[in-house]
Amino acid sequence: MSIQNSPAWKALASHKQDVERLHMKELFADDAERFERFSIRTGDLLLDYSKNRINGKTIKLLNSLAEEADVEGYRAKMFAGRKINFTEQRAVLHTALRQPESFRMELDGQTIGCDVREVLAQMRSFCGLILSGEWKGYSGKAITDVVNIGIGGSDLGPYMVTEALRPFADGAVKVHFVSNIDGTHIIETLRGLDADTTLFIIASKTFTTQETLTNAHTARKWFLDKAVDESFIARHFVAVSTNQEKVEEFGIDAHNMFRFWDWVGGRYSLWSSIGLAIALYVGFERFTELLAGAHAMDEHFLTAPFENNIPVLLALLGIWYNNFFDVHSHAVIPYDQYLHRLPAYLQQLDMESNGKRIDREGDEVGYATGPVIWGEPGTNSQHAFFQLLHQGPNFIPVDFIVPLKSQNQAGKHHDILLANCFAQTEALMRGKTAKEAEKEMRDAGMPEERIEQLLPHKLFPGNRPTNTLVFSEINPFNLGSLIAMYEHKVFVQGVIWRINSFDQWGVELGKQLAKAILPEIQGEQDAKTHDSSTNGLINLYRQSRGS
Ligand code: F6P
Repeated sequence: MSIQNSPAWKALASHKQDVERLHMKELFADDAERFERFSIRTGDLLLDYSKNRINGKTIKLLNSLAEEADVEGYRAKMFAGRKINFTEQRAVLHTALRQPESFRMELDGQTIGCDVREVLAQMRSFCGLILSGEWKGYSGKAITDVVNIGIGGSDLGPYMVTEALRPFADGAVKVHFVSNIDGTHIIETLRGLDADTTLFIIASKTFTTQETLTNAHTARKWFLDKAVDESFIARHFVAVSTNQEKVEEFGIDAHNMFRFWDWVGGRYSLWSSIGLAIALYVGFERFTELLAGAHAMDEHFLTAPFENNIPVLLALLGIWYNNFFDVHSHAVIPYDQYLHRLPAYLQQLDMESNGKRIDREGDEVGYATGPVIWGEPGTNSQHAFFQLLHQGPNFIPVDFIVPLKSQNQAGKHHDILLANCFAQTEALMRGKTAKEAEKEMRDAGMPEERIEQLLPHKLFPGNRPTNTLVFSEINPFNLGSLIAMYEHKVFVQGVIWRINSFDQWGVELGKQLAKAILPEIQGEQDAKTHDSSTNGLINLYRQSRGS
């Protein structure tokens, strides 16, 4: 049965007519307890979802939707290792990567906990060797710079986390990330690095990704131009992958390979050996704190009743706007400079997972699924696109992410930062009425004619929903919890939309066509077999490079 025909969906559609007439400002005026009523704490994290277009009945109905969609059943299947990634026949067990030491689970003849511990031990010992300086480069010097070459999930997670945890780096090594096939990325990164003190991590689940392999070969050539002797590669190149054959084909010894498994999706892989760059940057202990934070969120997700379950509520609120208010955009604004890559990371997590239109039965879903995810840190974003959030024709729900304590106490900066953050959520909720705007202009001594002219431009409709996620400070544990929270939010939405959140066939077509176009660009003949636009563009480039 389509979820649209479920009683909860129908009840929500009719309930929306009532809620549409309500303004949050009045809901707050009528209920002094609204903040307490609509906020949840778990560990160090508080979700304030009181500034949403909801009342108690909305939450009850949304919870019924989650029940009717069998979120509980699917959650159990995911944690039990059932092959819920049904198009690839794979289990989805990134949660197993952050289980405590004693965890054991059998999956297709593999004891998952043992394998995970083995690789963690390998990572721990490698971090020890690199960070102590015991591991020497070819000239006998210690490693000072680590370059992670990967793309998508093999880049966005480790890059976002190392940026977020900069205050926790002990400075033993610097980390750099190369993802783009644009040669500028690797050339600019290698400029200024010394081959004899640089370690490359080639991070690719499949070890077949064109961008990563091309960048890895460029790095190898750059290295050998300086080091000359191929036997030195073993001291400067390691791989993180599920594909040992391809790793060896590239020339990396299996001893220098950190494994992970097909039950870890690329965009869910920072908890695996894909996190090696993180562990090298902040130290292995901090990496385990990140895992522990994620595990704490897994426990909350597994045990808290839906009405008190942060990922479930975030998922349901997203569905409320996406499917009942026809709003297909969602902004994430971290009020912390260290989290500047979080929106980019969440774009892959959310849009590669839930940007789907075919359901479990293979039919078109017929309703909106994953929204467009975007954002930038506050307060920069306030001076860029907040105009649209406040006065654009439609509303866009926003997540505000706020640590109470800054990692860098600098005079009044943090007070001003947080004042801005809280003010934005208030302004989006309250708006400004004609009466308020008129009074302001009159008090400023503006002539009546000008007031009349300006008034429509000075109005703010308000009633624009926001979630505020507050925690004491950015640290590995809290960051782990925050990321896992979003993973589970995306999961719950995928279950309710009846789609497979764990495949990504949509990125294949472009890859296939790029492979076909490359020889045409490099060949002798003008392209003729495509549409006139594609032929024209290929031939324009061929001419520009003198083909
Ligand atoms: O963009 C498609 C994708 O398969 C992502 O899902 C993945 O994270 C990325 O490419 C990189 O893949 P790999 O780690 O296999 O190089």
